[in-house]
Amino acid sequence: MLLKPCCIYSIGVFSVLLLILGISLVLSGVFPHFVQALVKKEVVLKNGTEAFEAWENPPAPIYMQFYFFNVTNPLEVLDGERPAVVEIGPYTYREYRPMEQVNFKDNGTKVAAVNTKTYIFQRNMSRGPESDLIRTVNIPAVSVMEKFKDESFVASLISSYMKATDEGLFTTRSVGELLWGYEDGLLQALKKLKPGLDDVFGLFYKSNASNDGDYVFFTGQQNYRDFARVDTWNGESSLNWWTSEECNMINGTNGASFHPVITKTDTLYMFSSDLCRSLYALYEEDVAVKGISGYRFSPPSEVFANKTVNPANAGFCVPAGNCLGSGLLNVSACKQGAPIIMSSPHFYQADQKFVQDVFGMRPNKEQHQTTLDVNPLTGILLQAAKRLQVNVYVEKLPTFSQTGDVRTVVFPVVYLNESVTIDGPSAAKLHAILVEQNVMVNVPFMLIALGIVLGGVFMLLMCWQKVPESTAAERQPLLSS
Ligand SMILES: *[C@@H]1O[C@H](CO)[C@@H](O)[C@H](O)[C@H]1NC(C)=O
Ligand SMILES: *[C@@H]1O[C@H](CO)[C@@H](O)[C@H](O)[C@H]1NC(C)=O
Ligand SMILES: *[C@@H]1O[C@H](CO)[C@@H](O)[C@H](O)[C@H]1NC(C)=O
Ligand SMILES: *[C@@H]1O[C@H](CO)[C@@H](O)[C@H](O)[C@H]1NC(C)=O
Ligand SMILES: *[C@@H]1O[C@H](CO)[C@@H](O)[C@H](O)[C@H]1NC(C)=O
Ligand SMILES: *[C@@H]1O[C@H](CO)[C@@H](O)[C@H](O)[C@H]1NC(C)=O
Ligand SMILES: *[C@@H]1O[C@H](CO)[C@@H](O)[C@H](O)[C@H]1NC(C)=O
Ligand SMILES: *[C@@H]1O[C@H](CO)[C@@H](O)[C@H](O)[C@H]1NC(C)=O
Repeated sequence: MLLKPCCIYSIGVFSVLLLILGISLVLSGVFPHFVQALVKKEVVLKNGTEAFEAWENPPAPIYMQFYFFNVTNPLEVLDGERPAVVEIGPYTYREYRPMEQVNFKDNGTKVAAVNTKTYIFQRNMSRGPESDLIRTVNIPAVSVMEKFKDESFVASLISSYMKATDEGLFTTRSVGELLWGYEDGLLQALKKLKPGLDDVFGLFYKSNASNDGDYVFFTGQQNYRDFARVDTWNGESSLNWWTSEECNMINGTNGASFHPVITKTDTLYMFSSDLCRSLYALYEEDVAVKGISGYRFSPPSEVFANKTVNPANAGFCVPAGNCLGSGLLNVSACKQGAPIIMSSPHFYQADQKFVQDVFGMRPNKEQHQTTLDVNPLTGILLQAAKRLQVNVYVEKLPTFSQTGDVRTVVFPVVYLNESVTIDGPSAAKLHAILVEQNVMVNVPFMLIALGIVLGGVFMLLMCWQKVPESTAAERQPLLSS
Protein backbone atom coordinates (compact mmCIF):
# COMPACT_ATOMS: atom_id res chain seq x y z
CA MET A 1 0.00 0.00 0.00
CA LEU A 2 2.30 2.77 -1.17
CA LEU A 3 1.39 6.44 -1.67
CA LYS A 4 2.41 8.04 -4.90
CA PRO A 5 5.55 10.16 -4.43
CA CYS A 6 3.69 13.29 -5.57
CA CYS A 7 1.28 12.90 -2.60
CA ILE A 8 4.16 12.56 -0.19
CA TYR A 9 5.88 15.65 -1.60
CA SER A 10 2.70 17.71 -1.39
CA ILE A 11 2.40 16.78 2.30
CA GLY A 12 5.93 18.07 2.76
CA VAL A 13 5.25 21.29 0.88
CA PHE A 14 1.99 21.76 2.80
CA SER A 15 3.71 21.36 6.15
CA VAL A 16 6.35 23.93 5.21
CA LEU A 17 3.62 26.33 4.05
CA LEU A 18 1.73 25.86 7.33
CA LEU A 19 4.89 26.56 9.30
CA ILE A 20 5.60 29.71 7.31
CA LEU A 21 2.01 30.91 7.60
CA GLY A 22 1.80 30.14 11.33
CA ILE A 23 5.12 31.81 12.14
CA SER A 24 4.34 34.90 10.09
CA LEU A 25 0.91 35.20 11.75
CA VAL A 26 2.53 34.95 15.17
CA LEU A 27 5.14 37.55 14.24
CA SER A 28 2.63 39.94 12.65
CA GLY A 29 0.20 39.69 15.59
CA VAL A 30 -2.76 39.79 13.22
CA PHE A 31 -5.01 37.62 15.36
CA PRO A 32 -4.63 39.54 18.64
CA HIS A 33 -5.24 42.68 16.57
CA PHE A 34 -8.32 41.14 15.08
CA VAL A 35 -9.67 40.21 18.52
CA GLN A 36 -8.93 43.71 19.77
CA ALA A 37 -10.72 45.21 16.79
CA LEU A 38 -13.78 43.09 17.57
CA VAL A 39 -13.74 44.30 21.17
CA LYS A 40 -13.34 47.90 20.04
CA LYS A 41 -16.32 47.57 17.75
CA GLU A 42 -18.51 46.27 20.58
CA VAL A 43 -17.31 48.68 23.23
CA VAL A 44 -19.01 51.85 22.15
CA LEU A 45 -22.09 53.57 23.51
CA LYS A 46 -24.38 53.25 20.51
CA ASN A 47 -28.06 52.46 20.44
CA GLY A 48 -28.24 48.68 20.05
CA THR A 49 -24.85 47.52 21.36
CA GLU A 50 -24.72 45.34 24.45
CA ALA A 51 -22.29 47.77 26.04
CA PHE A 52 -24.90 50.51 25.67
CA GLU A 53 -27.61 48.37 27.22
CA ALA A 54 -25.39 47.48 30.18
CA TRP A 55 -24.45 51.13 30.61
CA GLU A 56 -28.05 52.33 30.40
CA ASN A 57 -29.39 49.69 32.79
CA PRO A 58 -26.65 47.94 34.76
CA PRO A 59 -27.70 44.24 35.01
CA ALA A 60 -25.67 43.40 38.13
CA PRO A 61 -27.14 44.36 41.52
CA ILE A 62 -25.47 47.33 43.17
CA TYR A 63 -25.52 47.53 46.96
CA MET A 64 -24.94 50.56 49.13
CA GLN A 65 -24.00 49.60 52.68
CA PHE A 66 -23.66 51.97 55.61
CA TYR A 67 -21.66 51.44 58.80
CA PHE A 68 -22.30 53.99 61.56
CA PHE A 69 -20.06 54.89 64.48
CA ASN A 70 -22.02 54.87 67.75
CA VAL A 71 -20.44 57.17 70.34
CA THR A 72 -20.04 55.46 73.72
CA ASN A 73 -18.56 58.23 75.90
CA PRO A 74 -20.28 61.56 75.05
CA LEU A 75 -19.85 63.10 78.52
CA GLU A 76 -16.16 62.25 78.66
CA VAL A 77 -15.67 63.72 75.16
CA LEU A 78 -17.12 67.02 76.39
CA ASP A 79 -14.59 66.89 79.25
CA GLY A 80 -11.75 66.62 76.72
CA GLU A 81 -11.28 62.89 76.53
CA ARG A 82 -10.62 60.89 73.41
CA PRO A 83 -13.88 59.88 71.68
CA ALA A 84 -14.69 56.16 71.66
CA VAL A 85 -16.91 54.69 68.95
CA VAL A 86 -18.36 51.30 68.04
CA GLU A 87 -18.95 50.39 64.41
CA ILE A 88 -22.60 49.42 63.76
CA GLY A 89 -23.66 47.96 60.43
CA PRO A 90 -24.23 47.12 57.71
CA TYR A 91 -27.49 48.80 56.78
CA THR A 92 -27.88 47.70 53.18
CA TYR A 93 -29.77 49.29 50.30
CA ARG A 94 -30.16 47.93 46.79
CA GLU A 95 -29.31 50.74 44.42
CA TYR A 96 -31.05 51.14 41.07
CA ARG A 97 -29.29 53.60 38.79
CA PRO A 98 -30.55 53.70 35.22
CA MET A 99 -29.28 56.36 32.84
CA GLU A 100 -32.15 58.64 31.86
CA GLN A 101 -32.77 61.44 29.38
CA VAL A 102 -30.18 59.77 27.16
CA ASN A 103 -29.30 62.03 24.28
CA PHE A 104 -26.56 61.42 21.72
CA LYS A 105 -24.56 64.46 20.65
CA ASP A 106 -21.77 65.47 18.31
CA ASN A 107 -22.38 62.75 15.71
CA GLY A 108 -22.48 60.03 18.32
CA THR A 109 -19.11 60.84 19.89
CA LYS A 110 -20.75 62.00 23.12
CA VAL A 111 -23.89 61.18 25.05
CA ALA A 112 -25.69 63.32 27.63
CA ALA A 113 -27.64 61.68 30.46
CA VAL A 114 -28.70 61.92 34.08
CA ASN A 115 -28.15 59.06 36.48
CA THR A 116 -31.25 58.61 38.62
CA LYS A 117 -30.64 56.58 41.76
CA THR A 118 -33.21 54.82 43.90
CA TYR A 119 -32.35 53.10 47.18
CA ILE A 120 -34.45 50.21 48.52
CA PHE A 121 -33.71 48.98 52.04
CA GLN A 122 -32.71 45.28 52.29
CA ARG A 123 -33.65 44.13 55.77
CA ASN A 124 -32.24 40.59 55.28
CA MET A 125 -28.82 42.03 54.39
CA SER A 126 -28.80 44.48 57.29
CA ARG A 127 -27.83 44.28 60.92
CA GLY A 128 -31.15 45.71 62.05
CA PRO A 129 -34.09 47.83 60.88
CA GLU A 130 -33.76 51.44 59.75
CA SER A 131 -35.23 52.40 63.13
CA ASP A 132 -32.00 51.39 64.98
CA LEU A 133 -30.73 54.30 67.03
CA ILE A 134 -27.27 55.79 66.61
CA ARG A 135 -25.65 58.37 68.87
CA THR A 136 -23.40 60.62 66.84
CA VAL A 137 -22.29 64.19 66.34
CA ASN A 138 -25.19 66.63 65.96
CA ILE A 139 -24.16 67.76 62.48
CA PRO A 140 -26.76 70.55 62.00
CA ALA A 141 -25.87 72.01 65.41
CA VAL A 142 -22.11 71.82 64.75
CA SER A 143 -22.62 73.46 61.34
CA VAL A 144 -24.68 76.30 62.83
CA MET A 145 -22.22 76.82 65.70
CA GLU A 146 -19.25 76.89 63.28
CA LYS A 147 -21.07 79.38 61.10
CA PHE A 148 -21.85 81.84 63.91
CA LYS A 149 -18.86 81.24 66.18
CA ASP A 150 -17.38 84.70 65.51
CA GLU A 151 -20.63 86.66 65.90
CA SER A 152 -20.88 86.71 69.67
CA PHE A 153 -24.36 88.27 69.90
CA VAL A 154 -26.05 85.81 67.50
CA ALA A 155 -23.98 83.03 69.02
CA SER A 156 -25.28 83.73 72.53
CA LEU A 157 -28.89 83.80 71.25
CA ILE A 158 -28.44 80.46 69.50
CA SER A 159 -26.63 79.03 72.50
CA SER A 160 -29.48 79.91 74.86
CA TYR A 161 -32.01 78.52 72.41
CA MET A 162 -30.02 75.27 72.30
CA LYS A 163 -29.93 75.13 76.09
CA ALA A 164 -33.70 75.63 76.28
CA THR A 165 -34.36 72.87 73.78
CA ASP A 166 -31.68 70.60 75.23
CA GLU A 167 -29.64 70.38 72.04
CA GLY A 168 -25.99 69.55 72.41
CA LEU A 169 -22.91 68.34 70.60
CA PHE A 170 -24.35 64.85 70.24
CA THR A 171 -27.72 63.57 69.11
CA THR A 172 -29.40 60.16 68.97
CA ARG A 173 -31.31 59.49 65.77
CA SER A 174 -32.46 56.51 63.77
CA VAL A 175 -30.47 55.20 60.82
CA GLY A 176 -33.31 56.20 58.48
CA GLU A 177 -33.38 59.76 59.86
CA LEU A 178 -29.63 60.24 59.67
CA LEU A 179 -29.48 59.06 56.08
CA TRP A 180 -32.66 60.29 54.46
CA GLY A 181 -33.49 63.32 56.58
CA TYR A 182 -35.34 64.57 59.66
CA GLU A 183 -36.73 67.94 60.71
CA ASP A 184 -34.19 69.58 62.94
CA GLY A 185 -35.43 71.87 65.73
CA LEU A 186 -32.55 74.30 65.54
CA LEU A 187 -32.81 74.62 61.75
CA GLN A 188 -36.58 75.15 62.13
CA ALA A 189 -35.94 78.02 64.54
CA LEU A 190 -33.39 79.59 62.21
CA LYS A 191 -35.80 79.21 59.31
CA LYS A 192 -38.10 81.70 61.03
CA LEU A 193 -35.32 84.27 60.63
CA LYS A 194 -34.18 83.13 57.20
CA PRO A 195 -37.15 81.70 55.27
CA GLY A 196 -35.09 80.23 52.40
CA LEU A 197 -33.34 77.79 54.74
CA ASP A 198 -34.08 74.06 54.56
CA ASP A 199 -34.99 72.74 58.02
CA VAL A 200 -34.45 69.08 57.14
CA PHE A 201 -31.07 67.47 57.61
CA GLY A 202 -29.91 64.07 56.33
CA LEU A 203 -26.63 62.82 54.95
CA PHE A 204 -28.42 61.61 51.79
CA TYR A 205 -31.37 63.98 52.02
CA LYS A 206 -33.09 64.35 48.62
CA SER A 207 -30.75 61.79 47.08
CA ASN A 208 -33.35 59.05 46.72
CA ALA A 209 -35.13 58.86 43.38
CA SER A 210 -33.22 61.87 42.16
CA ASN A 211 -30.14 62.50 40.09
CA ASP A 212 -26.90 64.18 40.97
CA GLY A 213 -26.61 66.41 37.96
CA ASP A 214 -26.12 66.42 34.21
CA TYR A 215 -23.40 64.26 32.76
CA VAL A 216 -21.85 64.14 29.33
CA PHE A 217 -19.92 60.94 28.56
CA PHE A 218 -17.65 60.02 25.69
CA THR A 219 -19.15 57.12 23.75
CA GLY A 220 -15.81 55.64 22.73
CA GLN A 221 -16.60 56.07 19.05
CA GLN A 222 -13.57 58.26 18.40
CA ASN A 223 -11.26 56.47 20.81
CA TYR A 224 -12.29 53.25 22.44
CA ARG A 225 -10.13 54.09 25.43
CA ASP A 226 -12.56 56.91 26.24
CA PHE A 227 -15.49 54.51 26.54
CA ALA A 228 -18.00 55.88 29.07
CA ARG A 229 -15.49 58.40 30.41
CA VAL A 230 -17.09 61.51 31.93
CA ASP A 231 -16.50 64.58 29.77
CA THR A 232 -18.44 67.17 31.76
CA TRP A 233 -20.51 67.18 34.93
CA ASN A 234 -23.08 69.96 35.36
CA GLY A 235 -21.43 71.69 32.42
CA GLU A 236 -17.96 71.69 33.92
CA SER A 237 -14.99 70.00 32.36
CA SER A 238 -13.79 67.00 34.30
CA LEU A 239 -10.38 68.63 34.55
CA ASN A 240 -11.75 71.42 36.71
CA TRP A 241 -13.73 69.35 39.13
CA TRP A 242 -11.41 69.57 42.01
CA THR A 243 -11.39 73.34 41.96
CA SER A 244 -15.15 73.52 41.65
CA GLU A 245 -17.04 75.30 44.42
CA GLU A 246 -20.44 74.19 43.20
CA CYS A 247 -20.31 70.52 43.82
CA ASN A 248 -22.80 68.14 45.25
CA MET A 249 -22.23 66.56 48.58
CA ILE A 250 -22.78 62.97 49.50
CA ASN A 251 -25.14 62.49 46.65
CA GLY A 252 -24.54 58.91 45.64
CA THR A 253 -21.72 57.82 43.46
CA ASN A 254 -20.92 57.42 39.87
CA GLY A 255 -19.68 54.70 37.66
CA ALA A 256 -16.14 53.97 36.93
CA SER A 257 -15.00 54.47 33.42
CA PHE A 258 -12.48 52.08 32.08
CA HIS A 259 -11.05 51.27 28.75
CA PRO A 260 -10.99 47.87 27.14
CA VAL A 261 -7.82 45.86 26.77
CA ILE A 262 -6.30 46.94 30.02
CA THR A 263 -2.62 46.74 30.86
CA LYS A 264 -0.95 46.83 34.22
CA THR A 265 0.50 50.25 33.54
CA ASP A 266 -2.89 51.85 32.84
CA THR A 267 -4.51 54.45 35.06
CA LEU A 268 -8.24 54.10 35.63
CA TYR A 269 -10.39 57.10 36.44
CA MET A 270 -13.48 57.11 38.61
CA PHE A 271 -15.57 60.18 38.88
CA SER A 272 -17.14 60.74 42.27
CA SER A 273 -19.62 63.50 42.95
CA ASP A 274 -19.22 62.75 46.69
CA LEU A 275 -15.71 64.06 46.48
CA CYS A 276 -16.48 66.61 43.78
CA ARG A 277 -13.63 65.21 41.72
CA SER A 278 -12.32 62.22 39.94
CA LEU A 279 -10.07 59.68 41.54
CA TYR A 280 -7.54 57.54 39.81
CA ALA A 281 -6.55 53.96 40.46
CA LEU A 282 -3.43 51.96 39.61
CA TYR A 283 -2.79 48.24 39.11
CA GLU A 284 -2.27 46.38 42.35
CA GLU A 285 -2.61 42.62 41.89
CA ASP A 286 -4.17 39.79 39.90
CA VAL A 287 -7.54 38.55 41.10
CA ALA A 288 -10.20 36.06 40.00
CA VAL A 289 -13.92 36.87 40.19
CA LYS A 290 -16.39 34.02 39.54
CA GLY A 291 -13.59 32.15 37.78
CA ILE A 292 -12.70 35.06 35.49
CA SER A 293 -9.24 36.56 35.79
CA GLY A 294 -8.90 40.24 36.43
CA TYR A 295 -6.55 43.01 37.42
CA ARG A 296 -7.29 44.81 40.68
CA PHE A 297 -6.87 48.57 40.57
CA SER A 298 -7.05 50.80 43.62
CA PRO A 299 -6.32 54.44 44.41
CA PRO A 300 -2.71 54.84 45.57
CA SER A 301 -2.15 56.66 48.84
CA GLU A 302 -1.10 59.77 46.90
CA VAL A 303 -4.70 60.33 45.83
CA PHE A 304 -5.48 61.64 49.31
CA ALA A 305 -1.95 62.69 50.20
CA ASN A 306 -1.17 66.11 51.59
CA LYS A 307 -0.01 68.75 49.16
CA THR A 308 3.67 68.20 49.91
CA VAL A 309 3.39 64.68 48.52
CA ASN A 310 0.77 65.44 45.85
CA PRO A 311 0.70 69.10 44.79
CA ALA A 312 -2.54 68.45 42.85
CA ASN A 313 -4.32 68.24 46.19
CA ALA A 314 -3.50 71.83 47.09
CA GLY A 315 -7.01 72.69 45.82
CA PHE A 316 -8.39 70.95 48.90
CA CYS A 317 -6.47 73.12 51.31
CA VAL A 318 -9.31 75.59 51.89
CA PRO A 319 -8.91 78.40 52.69
CA ALA A 320 -5.71 78.37 50.64
CA GLY A 321 -2.76 77.07 52.62
CA ASN A 322 -4.97 75.47 55.31
CA CYS A 323 -4.14 71.79 54.85
CA LEU A 324 -5.60 69.10 57.05
CA GLY A 325 -3.01 66.39 56.49
CA SER A 326 -2.84 63.25 54.41
CA GLY A 327 -5.94 61.17 53.89
CA LEU A 328 -8.55 63.88 54.39
CA LEU A 329 -10.54 66.01 51.98
CA ASN A 330 -12.39 69.11 53.16
CA VAL A 331 -15.64 69.09 51.17
CA SER A 332 -17.24 71.85 53.24
CA ALA A 333 -17.83 73.91 50.11
CA CYS A 334 -20.01 71.10 48.68
CA LYS A 335 -22.18 70.94 51.79
CA GLN A 336 -23.42 74.49 52.26
CA GLY A 337 -20.53 75.21 54.60
CA ALA A 338 -21.12 72.26 56.96
CA PRO A 339 -17.70 71.16 58.31
CA ILE A 340 -17.69 67.81 56.51
CA ILE A 341 -14.41 65.99 55.91
CA MET A 342 -14.18 62.89 53.72
CA SER A 343 -11.64 60.09 54.18
CA SER A 344 -11.25 56.38 53.62
CA PRO A 345 -13.05 54.19 56.21
CA HIS A 346 -11.27 54.07 59.59
CA PHE A 347 -8.83 56.66 58.18
CA TYR A 348 -7.15 53.97 56.08
CA GLN A 349 -4.09 55.54 54.37
CA ALA A 350 -4.50 58.75 56.40
CA ASP A 351 -2.00 60.19 58.88
CA GLN A 352 -1.69 57.95 61.94
CA LYS A 353 -2.73 60.93 64.07
CA PHE A 354 -6.36 60.71 62.92
CA VAL A 355 -6.51 56.98 63.67
CA GLN A 356 -5.16 57.52 67.16
CA ASP A 357 -7.44 60.47 67.92
CA VAL A 358 -10.53 58.23 68.00
CA PHE A 359 -10.73 55.01 69.98
CA GLY A 360 -12.22 52.27 67.80
CA MET A 361 -10.51 53.04 64.48
CA ARG A 362 -8.94 49.93 62.93
CA PRO A 363 -7.84 50.68 59.38
CA ASN A 364 -7.46 47.57 57.29
CA LYS A 365 -6.52 47.38 53.63
CA GLU A 366 -8.75 44.43 52.73
CA GLN A 367 -11.90 45.97 54.17
CA HIS A 368 -11.32 49.67 53.71
CA GLN A 369 -9.67 50.25 50.36
CA THR A 370 -11.54 51.17 47.21
CA THR A 371 -11.09 48.57 44.48
CA LEU A 372 -11.92 48.03 40.82
CA ASP A 373 -11.44 44.55 39.38
CA VAL A 374 -11.33 44.60 35.60
CA ASN A 375 -10.98 41.83 33.05
CA PRO A 376 -7.91 42.95 31.07
CA LEU A 377 -8.87 41.42 27.72
CA THR A 378 -12.27 43.06 27.44
CA GLY A 379 -12.11 45.88 29.99
CA ILE A 380 -15.33 44.61 31.55
CA LEU A 381 -15.77 45.48 35.22
CA LEU A 382 -15.93 42.27 37.27
CA GLN A 383 -16.27 43.74 40.73
CA ALA A 384 -15.96 47.11 42.40
CA ALA A 385 -16.21 48.54 45.90
CA LYS A 386 -16.16 52.24 46.59
CA ARG A 387 -15.51 52.99 50.25
CA LEU A 388 -15.69 56.41 51.83
CA GLN A 389 -16.12 57.81 55.31
CA VAL A 390 -18.01 60.93 56.35
CA ASN A 391 -16.46 62.84 59.26
CA VAL A 392 -17.24 66.11 61.00
CA TYR A 393 -14.61 68.60 62.08
CA VAL A 394 -15.29 69.24 65.76
CA GLU A 395 -13.49 71.86 67.85
CA LYS A 396 -14.03 73.80 71.08
CA LEU A 397 -15.88 77.06 70.41
CA PRO A 398 -15.60 79.57 73.27
CA THR A 399 -18.88 81.24 72.20
CA PHE A 400 -20.76 77.95 72.59
CA SER A 401 -20.73 76.23 75.98
CA GLN A 402 -22.30 73.21 74.22
CA THR A 403 -18.84 72.31 72.93
CA GLY A 404 -17.51 72.03 76.50
CA ASP A 405 -13.81 71.19 76.55
CA VAL A 406 -13.93 69.01 73.48
CA ARG A 407 -10.62 68.28 71.74
CA THR A 408 -10.15 69.31 68.13
CA VAL A 409 -10.91 66.09 66.30
CA VAL A 410 -11.99 64.78 62.91
CA PHE A 411 -15.01 62.86 64.18
CA PRO A 412 -16.14 59.78 62.18
CA VAL A 413 -19.91 59.52 61.62
CA VAL A 414 -20.52 56.82 59.00
CA TYR A 415 -18.75 55.02 56.20
CA LEU A 416 -20.22 53.54 53.08
CA ASN A 417 -19.37 50.66 50.79
CA GLU A 418 -20.99 50.87 47.38
CA SER A 419 -20.27 47.61 45.65
CA VAL A 420 -21.15 45.55 42.61
CA THR A 421 -20.17 42.08 41.39
CA ILE A 422 -20.76 40.85 37.85
CA ASP A 423 -24.04 38.90 37.63
CA GLY A 424 -24.14 35.18 36.76
CA PRO A 425 -25.45 35.39 33.19
CA SER A 426 -22.98 38.17 32.26
CA ALA A 427 -20.13 36.18 33.81
CA ALA A 428 -21.11 33.08 31.81
CA LYS A 429 -21.29 35.12 28.60
CA LEU A 430 -17.93 36.74 29.30
CA HIS A 431 -16.44 33.34 30.04
CA ALA A 432 -17.60 32.04 26.65
CA ILE A 433 -16.20 35.11 24.88
CA LEU A 434 -12.85 34.65 26.62
CA VAL A 435 -12.64 30.99 25.59
CA GLU A 436 -13.49 31.98 22.01
CA GLN A 437 -10.85 34.70 22.01
CA ASN A 438 -8.34 32.32 23.47
CA VAL A 439 -8.96 29.88 20.63
CA MET A 440 -8.73 32.66 18.04
CA VAL A 441 -5.50 34.07 19.42
CA ASN A 442 -4.04 30.55 19.34
CA VAL A 443 -4.93 29.80 15.71
CA PRO A 444 -1.40 30.65 14.44
CA PHE A 445 0.14 28.31 17.03
CA MET A 446 -2.25 25.57 15.97
CA LEU A 447 -1.14 26.08 12.36
CA ILE A 448 2.50 25.72 13.45
CA ALA A 449 1.68 22.60 15.42
CA LEU A 450 -0.15 21.10 12.44
CA GLY A 451 2.82 21.99 10.22
CA ILE A 452 5.18 20.17 12.58
CA VAL A 453 2.94 17.10 12.72
CA LEU A 454 2.62 16.99 8.93
CA GLY A 455 6.40 17.47 8.63
CA GLY A 456 6.87 14.42 10.87
CA VAL A 457 4.41 12.41 8.81
CA PHE A 458 6.24 13.50 5.65
CA MET A 459 9.59 12.27 6.99
CA LEU A 460 8.12 8.96 8.18
CA LEU A 461 6.54 8.39 4.80
CA MET A 462 9.80 9.19 3.04
CA CYS A 463 11.73 6.68 5.13
CA TRP A 464 9.01 4.04 4.96
CA GLN A 465 8.76 4.47 1.22
CA LYS A 466 12.50 4.35 0.57
CA VAL A 467 13.68 1.72 3.03
CA PRO A 468 11.91 -1.34 1.58
CA GLU A 469 12.94 -0.43 -2.00
CA SER A 470 16.66 -0.14 -1.35
CA THR A 471 17.34 -2.40 1.62
CA ALA A 472 15.09 -5.26 0.61
CA ALA A 473 17.49 -6.25 -2.15
CA GLU A 474 20.74 -5.64 -0.23
CA ARG A 475 19.68 -7.23 3.03
CA GLN A 476 18.63 -10.46 1.50
CA PRO A 477 22.14 -11.91 1.29
CA LEU A 478 23.00 -10.76 4.78
CA LEU A 479 19.98 -12.47 6.24
CA SER A 480 20.60 -15.72 4.42
CA SER A 481 24.28 -15.89 5.26
C1 LIG B 1 -32.74 53.48 20.67
O1 LIG B 1 -33.51 52.82 19.68
C2 LIG B 1 -34.84 52.55 20.10
C3 LIG B 1 -35.52 51.74 19.02
O2 LIG B 1 -35.08 52.10 17.76
C4 LIG B 1 -35.57 53.86 20.39
O3 LIG B 1 -36.88 53.60 20.84
C5 LIG B 1 -34.81 54.62 21.47
O4 LIG B 1 -35.41 55.87 21.70
C6 LIG B 1 -33.37 54.82 21.05
N1 LIG B 1 -32.65 55.41 22.18
C7 LIG B 1 -31.89 56.49 22.08
C8 LIG B 1 -31.26 56.96 23.31
O5 LIG B 1 -31.71 57.08 21.02
C1 LIG C 1 -21.03 65.49 11.85
O1 LIG C 1 -20.72 64.83 10.64
C2 LIG C 1 -20.96 65.64 9.47
C3 LIG C 1 -20.75 64.79 8.22
O2 LIG C 1 -19.77 63.83 8.43
C4 LIG C 1 -20.05 66.87 9.51
O3 LIG C 1 -20.27 67.69 8.40
C5 LIG C 1 -20.33 67.63 10.80
O4 LIG C 1 -19.42 68.72 10.91
C6 LIG C 1 -20.17 66.74 12.02
N1 LIG C 1 -20.59 67.48 13.19
C7 LIG C 1 -19.92 67.45 14.34
C8 LIG C 1 -20.51 68.26 15.46
O5 LIG C 1 -18.88 66.82 14.49
C1 LIG D 1 -36.74 55.67 47.64
O1 LIG D 1 -37.82 55.93 46.77
C2 LIG D 1 -38.54 54.78 46.43
C3 LIG D 1 -39.60 55.14 45.42
O2 LIG D 1 -39.69 56.49 45.20
C4 LIG D 1 -39.16 54.13 47.67
O3 LIG D 1 -39.84 52.95 47.33
C5 LIG D 1 -38.03 53.81 48.65
O4 LIG D 1 -38.56 53.31 49.85
C6 LIG D 1 -37.23 55.05 48.95
N1 LIG D 1 -36.08 54.69 49.74
C7 LIG D 1 -35.79 55.30 50.87
C8 LIG D 1 -34.56 54.85 51.54
O5 LIG D 1 -36.45 56.18 51.31
C1 LIG E 1 -25.99 53.21 70.06
O1 LIG E 1 -25.77 53.78 71.33
C2 LIG E 1 -26.97 54.23 71.96
C3 LIG E 1 -26.56 54.91 73.23
O2 LIG E 1 -25.76 54.10 74.01
C4 LIG E 1 -27.87 53.05 72.23
O3 LIG E 1 -29.09 53.49 72.79
C5 LIG E 1 -28.17 52.36 70.91
O4 LIG E 1 -28.95 51.19 71.12
C6 LIG E 1 -26.90 52.01 70.18
N1 LIG E 1 -27.27 51.55 68.88
C7 LIG E 1 -27.14 50.27 68.47
C8 LIG E 1 -27.64 49.96 67.10
O5 LIG E 1 -26.62 49.41 69.16
C1 LIG F 1 -28.41 65.98 45.56
O1 LIG F 1 -28.62 66.29 44.21
C2 LIG F 1 -29.85 66.97 43.98
C3 LIG F 1 -30.03 67.12 42.49
O2 LIG F 1 -28.86 67.55 41.88
C4 LIG F 1 -29.84 68.31 44.72
O3 LIG F 1 -31.03 69.00 44.51
C5 LIG F 1 -29.64 68.03 46.19
O4 LIG F 1 -29.54 69.25 46.89
C6 LIG F 1 -28.39 67.21 46.43
N1 LIG F 1 -28.32 66.82 47.83
C7 LIG F 1 -27.36 67.25 48.63
C8 LIG F 1 -27.40 66.70 50.02
O5 LIG F 1 -26.50 68.02 48.28
C1 LIG G 1 2.81 65.21 54.24
O1 LIG G 1 2.83 63.79 54.32
C2 LIG G 1 4.13 63.26 54.49
C3 LIG G 1 4.02 61.74 54.44
O2 LIG G 1 2.90 61.28 55.12
C4 LIG G 1 4.69 63.76 55.83
O3 LIG G 1 6.01 63.27 55.99
C5 LIG G 1 4.71 65.29 55.81
O4 LIG G 1 5.12 65.76 57.08
C6 LIG G 1 3.33 65.83 55.52
N1 LIG G 1 3.38 67.28 55.39
C7 LIG G 1 2.47 68.09 55.94
C8 LIG G 1 2.63 69.53 55.66
O5 LIG G 1 1.54 67.66 56.61
C1 LIG H 1 -12.81 73.60 55.18
O1 LIG H 1 -13.05 74.51 54.11
C2 LIG H 1 -13.82 75.65 54.48
C3 LIG H 1 -14.03 76.51 53.26
O2 LIG H 1 -14.52 75.75 52.22
C4 LIG H 1 -13.10 76.45 55.55
O3 LIG H 1 -13.90 77.53 55.94
C5 LIG H 1 -12.83 75.53 56.74
O4 LIG H 1 -12.06 76.24 57.70
C6 LIG H 1 -12.09 74.29 56.31
N1 LIG H 1 -12.01 73.40 57.44
C7 LIG H 1 -10.89 73.02 57.99
C8 LIG H 1 -10.98 72.12 59.16
O5 LIG H 1 -9.80 73.35 57.55
C1 LIG I 1 -18.39 46.28 51.86
O1 LIG I 1 -17.32 46.59 52.72
C2 LIG I 1 -17.51 46.14 54.04
C3 LIG I 1 -16.41 46.68 54.89
O2 LIG I 1 -15.27 46.90 54.22
C4 LIG I 1 -17.59 44.63 54.07
O3 LIG I 1 -17.80 44.18 55.39
C5 LIG I 1 -18.74 44.19 53.19
O4 LIG I 1 -18.78 42.79 53.12
C6 LIG I 1 -18.60 44.77 51.80
N1 LIG I 1 -19.79 44.45 51.08
C7 LIG I 1 -19.78 43.78 49.94
C8 LIG I 1 -21.12 43.52 49.31
O5 LIG I 1 -18.75 43.37 49.42
